[in-house]
Amino acid sequence: MYRIGMEEIEALKRVVESRDLFKINSGLRETYHCEQEMREKFGCDYAVLMTSGAAALTAGLVGMGIGPGDEVIVPAYTYIASAMAVLAAGAIPVIAEIDETLTLDPEDAGKKISRYTKAIMPVHIQGFPCDMERLGAVAARHGIQILEDASQADGGSYRGRRLGAVGDAGALSFNQFKIITAGEGGALLTSSRQLFERAFIYHDSSAVAFFGGQLDDISEPQFCGNEYRTNELAAAVLREQLKKLDGILADLRRNKKALMTALADDFNFIPSNDIEGDCGTTAAFAFGSESEARRFAVADGVKGTLPIDTGKHVYTHWTPVLEKRGALHPLADPFKMEANKNLNHRYAADMCPKTLDILSRTVYIGVNPDWTPADIDKVAAACRAALR
Ligand SMILES: Cc1ncc(COP(=O)(O)O)c(C=O)c1O
Repeated sequence: MYRIGMEEIEALKRVVESRDLFKINSGLRETYHCEQEMREKFGCDYAVLMTSGAAALTAGLVGMGIGPGDEVIVPAYTYIASAMAVLAAGAIPVIAEIDETLTLDPEDAGKKISRYTKAIMPVHIQGFPCDMERLGAVAARHGIQILEDASQADGGSYRGRRLGAVGDAGALSFNQFKIITAGEGGALLTSSRQLFERAFIYHDSSAVAFFGGQLDDISEPQFCGNEYRTNELAAAVLREQLKKLDGILADLRRNKKALMTALADDFNFIPSNDIEGDCGTTAAFAFGSESEARRFAVADGVKGTLPIDTGKHVYTHWTPVLEKRGALHPLADPFKMEANKNLNHRYAADMCPKTLDILSRTVYIGVNPDWTPADIDKVAAACRAALR
């Protein structure tokens, strides 16, 4: 969360005063307007607000018709929720390497595709855009779909298209730690009518059946799903956050660029698949060895973090996945399902050595959109001093 203030307080006040906190109403209709504004900003035909990014990912997979018997490629470096969404849909996550951009390696993703693979999930981690062109080519070659996990990349873009609206569907997260926030929240973006209808039914199956008029001309049959619908308070806050999004991104990008420019002669930075579309939240320094990276990260005033130390973002820490506990009830556990018997769930801590190597040689410095030029000079000076 970067910027929250009076605008959000006013938005909450207006909803509380309306006494209509439920998303289906004939008054303020904050959710309806928020989804419309999101479609316009992100450039897609459908946007559905949900309770979380994980809910949006799961609904996206269900909307793609993915379930038991299917594999989905996920990167070895992403928050565990990406892999858990695949399991929540009943499918098996197949873990692939990242490349030097810290995002899914298109070559390894291609190698991990089997006759069971139904989708690739590129994750725009830390707001770094994935190589959507090469991943798109891999998916097209195999006739499979792309579900973008843009949970850490709200508003970023790839070649001018907003992340989350490049693939067949995409998920955003609005939890407290994201670029824009409502405390918790998520959204599914897509331009496929069928995917949208199915995801919509899944995220709110009882309300679709109970409250008419939510989806006109629905042609998909209703099925049992979950209750992941948003509320008017979250939607009202998000409408204000959406207005701030491009300003936050512009300031993050400007400050990241200024820091990198100031340090260009002294440091290497990770390559980017689209630096213009990068969200700017994180400056990522590339070192030759883990010891160099660690020395730099702890130097006075640097406040660096190695991505290898970010716990559940690294596949080696996805304990329930690696230990194959996909659900509490054995019959609901995708790892134990007959349909998944022959799928690729051969996990091991050393299965993605390239990812572990890259993550342990990288240092992150978090960028602040409100840094002044003097703040940037101070961070740059600390970084330079760390080399001496
Ligand atoms: C890459 C990634 N995917 C998915 C999620 C899940 O988002 P949420 O917490 O909104 O469910 C997160 C959240 O941190 C994330 O970072």
